[in-house]
Amino acid sequence: MAKIIDGKALAQKVKDELKVKVSEFEKENGRKIALAVILVGENPASKVYVNNKIKSTEYVGMKSLSFHLPESSTQEEVSDLVKTLASDSTVDGILVQLPLPKHLNENKILSLIPAEKDVDGFLAENVGNLMLGMPCTVACTPFGVLKMLKSEGVELSGKNAVVIGRSNIVGKPMAMLLLKENCTVTICHSKTSNLKEICSNADVLVAAIGRPKFVTADMVKDGAVVIDVGINRTENGLVGDVDFDAVKEKASLISPVPGGVGPMTIAMLLENTYLCATRKK
Ligand code: GUN
Repeated sequence: MAKIIDGKALAQKVKDELKVKVSEFEKENGRKIALAVILVGENPASKVYVNNKIKSTEYVGMKSLSFHLPESSTQEEVSDLVKTLASDSTVDGILVQLPLPKHLNENKILSLIPAEKDVDGFLAENVGNLMLGMPCTVACTPFGVLKMLKSEGVELSGKNAVVIGRSNIVGKPMAMLLLKENCTVTICHSKTSNLKEICSNADVLVAAIGRPKFVTADMVKDGAVVIDVGINRTENGLVGDVDFDAVKEKASLISPVPGGVGPMTIAMLLENTYLCATRKK
């Protein structure tokens, strides 16, 4: 039976440690660190995420600037807001909640965020610098997974790590981070033919596919570390990408859904905001 990672408690610890550093920043600089969050439209899941982000931003003592624009906003209106925040030296981070309504060009809007204020780590400059091993902002979810593995004392060097999912936000940066930790990394995706065989060889398995209970016990090696990035809304509530009840009997360490990676993502957003504020100088 695996040890279950308490992502909520770990996220709380990260936020409480940040609180101290954030207050020191304020004393030294005579202003609060500020994070601007832009939400366009009424996507219910996005509204929940954004509210949680705002609450946590205020909890650590940062200033939260929130902008809720109507669904009908034009490309120009959203762009103008991003440009204004981009040129405001008292704004340390800018987050545009995705997905944007379909009539807006997401990439064009994101590209207006200066790389040094890209708290999501979504921009080409940050992604490229991650590849190059240069200072950069790392996307919050994979950054949170790495923090989780390190906090649990998981030995990564030389281990086989398998990431299921190749998204720009999770799969690809996750693989780069694990590679940097000297893992032998395999990225699997919907077209991978021998998925079960590859997964059963993983010492560390990260599931980020977006399919409920996709990872079953027969795909998991005895004693593996299993991290579930999935957040699937089903009739039975929130379900991860891992068949938790069965897989926990085989793994040595496992993250649950909810209460695993989710809370860590927000904690790392605030960590990224702090890093953006302090990296400037
Ligand atoms: N939508 C879902 N996850 C995220 C995230 O991490 N950042 C942003 N900006 N939008 C999201």
